[in-house]
Amino acid sequence: MFYNPDVKGDHGLPHDPFKALVSPRPIGWISTLGIDGVINLAPYSFFNAVSYFPSYVMFSSSGLKDDPMKHSWRNAEETGEFVCNIVSSELSDAMNMTAKHVPLSVDEMALAGLTPEPSEKVTAPRVKEAPAHLECEYWKTVELPTNNPKFKHGVIFGHVVGIHINDDIIVDGKVDVTRYNPVARLGYMDYTKVDEVFSMDRPDDLSMGRKMLGDAPYKNKSDT
Ligand SMILES: Cc1cc2nc3c(=O)[nH]c(=O)nc-3n(C[C@H](O)[C@H](O)[C@H](O)COP(=O)(O)O)c2cc1C
Repeated sequence: MFYNPDVKGDHGLPHDPFKALVSPRPIGWISTLGIDGVINLAPYSFFNAVSYFPSYVMFSSSGLKDDPMKHSWRNAEETGEFVCNIVSSELSDAMNMTAKHVPLSVDEMALAGLTPEPSEKVTAPRVKEAPAHLECEYWKTVELPTNNPKFKHGVIFGHVVGIHINDDIIVDGKVDVTRYNPVARLGYMDYTKVDEVFSMDRPDDLSMGRKMLGDAPYKNKSDT
């Protein structure tokens, strides 16, 4: 089949297949601290790392045009910082709970029974129970052009300025994802968790990244 995603319903299927095709998507569980001091926490699966030296991440927020800014977007812009908490499989239910639409005045870490942990370089707290955290300084928002008059979409970029990793998930000097099984989003209401890993050697001795950047920051072939 072929369809035009700009034409509503052109796929002819009961559910839009786009998100099922671009999967699995990692989940950025974004914690922010509002200017009023209230902790906000919400999952974003339009989330990814976009560069690693320097390290940048993004999450993409969609909202109604007359109230376009979800709280994570608003807080990131107003305070200039946010934290991406990594979601382990055992935190799936708590993560899902924080997708609930609640007023800005509600502390969503408390709502989900989670523990706020102070960050090192930003004032937004981390989720203590998460296996890793990326502390970010807000860089910029790119608004996506759209023909849909009802919605507004912003891609929020952040520079990762500090990373916490739970020592329990480091095995032989490497982060072992099978120790925490990161949760990722599929299409529809479906999720997956990473519990299997396979490795492949690169066909070239040196990747383009290593050629471009010389020796820093790569120490081993497996870094690139
Ligand atoms: C797994 C998951 C992934 C989500 N991904 C996104 C996303 O990428 N972009 C978005 O705008 N909303 C996404 N949502 C919905 C938001 O989490 C939800 O609207 C939330 O209430 C926003 O909270 P906030 O206003 O505190 O930022 C997702 C929800 C779930 C459960």
